Amino acid sequence: MNKLLFTICCFFVSQSLWSQALIDRKALGDEAGREWLRTHFFENGRGMTISPDLSVFFGGLKKKPSLFQDPYITKKFGFLPGVEQRYVGVFEVNYKGIELAVLGCTGCHSGRAAGVLIPGLGNKTIDAYQIGKTLKKAQSVWQHLIAGKLESDPDYAYIHEKAMNFAHVLSDDRISNLTRGLVPDSVIKTFFYRDTNTPYGAEIQRTQVKVPPLWGFAEKRKVGVFADGSLNSQNYAWAFGAELMASDSGEHLRASMPKLTHVVDNVIGHLLPPKYPFEIDQALAAKGRPFVEKNCFECHGNHNRDPEGFPIYEKPELIPHDFVNTDPQRLDYGNSEWVDLAEQGSIGDLMKFNRHFFNYGYFAPKLWGVWSRFPYLHNGSVPTLYHLLSAPEDRPEVFLMEDAGEEYRFDKTYVGLRTFRNPSMIGAMIWEAEKGDRDLYWTKREEHSNQGHYFDFMKTLTHDDRMAIIEFLKTL
Ligand code: HEC
Ligand code: HEC
Repeated sequence: MNKLLFTICCFFVSQSLWSQALIDRKALGDEAGREWLRTHFFENGRGMTISPDLSVFFGGLKKKPSLFQDPYITKKFGFLPGVEQRYVGVFEVNYKGIELAVLGCTGCHSGRAAGVLIPGLGNKTIDAYQIGKTLKKAQSVWQHLIAGKLESDPDYAYIHEKAMNFAHVLSDDRISNLTRGLVPDSVIKTFFYRDTNTPYGAEIQRTQVKVPPLWGFAEKRKVGVFADGSLNSQNYAWAFGAELMASDSGEHLRASMPKLTHVVDNVIGHLLPPKYPFEIDQALAAKGRPFVEKNCFECHGNHNRDPEGFPIYEKPELIPHDFVNTDPQRLDYGNSEWVDLAEQGSIGDLMKFNRHFFNYGYFAPKLWGVWSRFPYLHNGSVPTLYHLLSAPEDRPEVFLMEDAGEEYRFDKTYVGLRTFRNPSMIGAMIWEAEKGDRDLYWTKREEHSNQGHYFDFMKTLTHDDRMAIIEFLKTL
């Protein structure tokens, strides 16, 4: 064939393949978001459930045409209004004729920011402890009313027993979260104690963290899982951690492996970061860009895009703790008994660790969609990007988590959670926080420190510099 003709042909074929790929990226992202919102791992009686038939008290879980939302469940538990279900991540499942409320991944792993529901963002208001505590009380009463059923129906009894354990673990004061919006990793660790018939107690560090965003995880997985990379996910299994807490055996994980692999690769793998929903001053963003590229990307890595502007996901880098100096408690493996138990237990072949990363440091996470990920840092201790670019002593000691994802709580100037600056309000909030108010994030609580991530190059920043940096970060 004529060489020129061949080149032209190649050009058109590659262009059409490209545009095919481009269309797919957006369509795949949207479809992944929808599928993610429908995902749960209830299987053969196993999974995160509450006691059978108890869901009638939640007003039914199917989405009704009215916009009625139960304030107790949204305000107190932190579940979000759903698209297809009444609440995001809470499913109605009929199993062998038993009505069940099943919790899916998205109860924690989909969130709202500035009033927009974002599949794969962490839920900023979920309160696992409060859910557990209320369920424990409700189920203790409920079991008397269903005593006959518990006796006659082994499936009913099996699910009730697991629901009791689920509530017990979530509401355990020794290991649970102290603030709404933070989730304790400790609840996962309890599985390995149950699995090996070992009693557990306060020696399991709470390790309260905010729920991380999941877009880009398919690349991150290859380095390590969770904020510190201490878990090895070559084989995907750790993504199942939350289900394990509610399971009675690792068989649930083994049976779910094909679905889990599909979800991580084909659902989470295609999620896209949310676009900033308000106007961006492009000229100001262009001013902020060189500073971020020079100073921030050294740790946070490149943020390259494909020709159509979609992010090219890359592996994040693990930064030694000495460099970043944020709250160190998440890294404390002081007593790593649970790790030994996990390695010796019934799924030791699947739950692998990166022991070389223990007590090492935190990932400098990729900054895609960072506008939506407030409050910032692994423990959610800094309410806005502006505060993160300011000296730790200028960051708020206390702030309100209530309705954190709603538009009226969004701070468009500082980007993040709007905080009160009136000193008398702050005094009153600290007083409430000391009494244990769970809606208040108080940086004096254990694992809640807002120190660190303040580098020499930030010390000379002016207000205008910070505003330019923030404007650029909105474009990611
Ligand atoms: C109770 C809330 C909760 C539920 C339910 C939950 N997760 Fe998570 N998930 C978390 C938290 C918190 C972390 C971060 C832990 C850390 O970094 O220490 C996390 C981390 C992850 C990560 C790793 C992210 C990263 O950046 O390393 C994946 C993947 C994940 N979860 C998938 C799932 C899947 C799949 C499900 C459903 C089977 C699920 N999660 C259910 C709270 C939850
Ligand atoms: C020395 C390495 C380093 C440099 C330089 C650095 N960061 Fe970070 N950054 C980190 C690490 C590590 C974390 C995670 C710390 C944690 O969660 O405790 C982090 C976390 C963050 C977060 C929180 C993300 C989230 O989802 O909560 C933001 C936002 C951020 N960095 C922005 C920046 C910006 C903007 C700059 C430049 C002005 C910058 N970083 C410079 C290492 C760095």
